[in-house]
Amino acid sequence: MDTYCPDSLSKIKRVVITKEEIDAAIAQVGKQISDEYRGKPLLLVSILKGAFVFMADFCRSLDIPCEIAFMCAQSYFNGTSSSGNVNITMDIGCDISNYNVIIVEDIIDTGRTLNEVIKLLRSRNPLSLKVVTLLDKPDRRVVEFNADYTLFTIPDFFVIGYGLDCGEIYRNLPYIAEYDENA
Ligand code: IMP
Ligand code: MG
Repeated sequence: MDTYCPDSLSKIKRVVITKEEIDAAIAQVGKQISDEYRGKPLLLVSILKGAFVFMADFCRSLDIPCEIAFMCAQSYFNGTSSSGNVNITMDIGCDISNYNVIIVEDIIDTGRTLNEVIKLLRSRNPLSLKVVTLLDKPDRRVVEFNADYTLFTIPDFFVIGYGLDCGEIYRNLPYIAEYDENA
């Protein structure tokens, strides 16, 4: 563990969601979404960077064919506070008008990122558009937004791991932990 990153492990306050709990929740939603989308053209759109780990596990929980695409949206530039505006720095490179699209997101916090991404994708007329999010922090919402599938709802604290970062580190932790800002 001490080779993970110098000075960083003391910032892990406690494990909030274990790898086993994440796996079980993904298996359940994967089965539900497979049943709902069976026989339909499906495109999963993941929002980088935070959702890359969830996307990798979620897409493998589906037992139906799907295509994969990535977008990059940035709203946290450093630390634990949102910059307030959303930049789409990389767009998907395909026509989505013949697909049922599911956006695969790591966490909904203020709601600003998904609000922007949804506006953009909806303007391209997909057959349908839904959102699956690993985590939801409803107490922090600035823009009203509800995901179609939410795996875990958490209170208002900053979390790291399983793709989620603080200052670009901790993404490779296998679980979700509370970040200790005072450590
Ligand atoms: P938004 O505020 O809903 O637009 O969320 C924007 C992005 O901020 C999310 O997709 C995450 O990448 C990041 N974010 C929000 N809350 C947290 C957190 O607790 N830990 C790490 N990243 C977060
Ligand atoms: Mg994200």
